[in-house]
Amino acid sequence: MKKILVMLGPNLNMVGTREKNIYGEENADTINQDIKSFAENIGFECDIFQSNHEGDLIDKIHSTLGVYDGVVLNAGALTHYSYALRDAIASVTAVPFIEVHMSNVHKREEFRHKSVISAVCAGVICGFGKDSYRLGIEALKGLI
Ligand code: DQA
Repeated sequence: MKKILVMLGPNLNMVGTREKNIYGEENADTINQDIKSFAENIGFECDIFQSNHEGDLIDKIHSTLGVYDGVVLNAGALTHYSYALRDAIASVTAVPFIEVHMSNVHKREEFRHKSVISAVCAGVICGFGKDSYRLGIEALKGLI
């Protein structure tokens, strides 16, 4: 069975509490349960990892080699400026990454229009709330 990882970066544990007008009212735990069930229903083994710490996310990315067949990554605000995260993804090229955002970052502040990780990801999905994760997992299904 293919094994995937859904990685969530800074502040994504606060969904349901933070900026509800943007990220909705549903809390992170419920969303994570739905993500896991969806992935398992389409035949993936699925782990979820959330951290507010850039270094922990980088360590986790390094550890995906030989363990996971693909990753769905919502890097939160690190998306827009973390060259370290980008280099970590680039160092595990055998593992495809799908960049995901709940909000449509292109409709929001200028600083969110730029992603420094898109170029090292297989593709990008944004703007569909928690369904962005489902779409990311479906995209992986087509790739691995
Ligand atoms: C986000 C968008 C980012 O700009 C923001 O910093 C987040 C969440 C999203 O899922 O829409 O934390 O990645």
